[in-house]
Amino acid sequence: MSLKIYPSVLNCDQMHFAKALQDIKSADGVHLDIMDNHFVPNLTWGLPTATAVLNSTRLPVDAHLMIENPDRWSLEYAKAGCAIVCFHLEASRAPIRTADVLHSLGAKVGIALNPATPASAIKDILGRFDQVTVMSVEPGFGGQKFIPEVLPKIRQLRAYAEDARLPLDIEVDGGINDDTLPLVLQAGANVVVAGSYVFKRNPEQAIATLRTIGATDHTH
Ligand code: DX5
Ligand code: ZN
Repeated sequence: MSLKIYPSVLNCDQMHFAKALQDIKSADGVHLDIMDNHFVPNLTWGLPTATAVLNSTRLPVDAHLMIENPDRWSLEYAKAGCAIVCFHLEASRAPIRTADVLHSLGAKVGIALNPATPASAIKDILGRFDQVTVMSVEPGFGGQKFIPEVLPKIRQLRAYAEDARLPLDIEVDGGINDDTLPLVLQAGANVVVAGSYVFKRNPEQAIATLRTIGATDHTH
């Protein structure tokens, strides 16, 4: 599985959002962190900004909804044209129904798990999702330190997917850099989000470095 790199624009220069999108053209997608100040203690953007981003990039948009009541609000992101709509298991009361509706609207569906939520929580319904987002920081802020305790969970999810022959994307979100990327690849991830690592340096070079790491064999 070749690595997909989705830079998070959470910590880009917000006055130059359009430039940030230009700077990550070599990525595979753009990761948009939607926070409502309820599910997480931080507030970012809503649908108007998501729409503006969709109109300003050709990259697929991976909308990471850190919001309460995704069963209601996630649909709008699919209708707006986000390629992947990812909501938190911890916030959803009806994840299967929500996944079905999002699929019917043409989106790929991601389910995000906080660091303390075990892989077993979605084992039986894994086939309902195109992507699992393993949070490797407590959601809410960019620039945090990678939580290594999530590595066994990534391994477990990849084992579940292989057993069930599911072409599952396993995305890891939080604290990804050139040190932590090999660890998550070895555990079985194939998609990574990188925010501060990309925007604190030359974004194009940072993406190229991550790609080089991704191209080496991490299987054991
Ligand atoms: C955290 C967000 C992440 C984060 C990634 O709640 O979901 O997408 O911004 O940023 P870094 O790579 O800086 O951890
Ligand atoms: Zn995110």
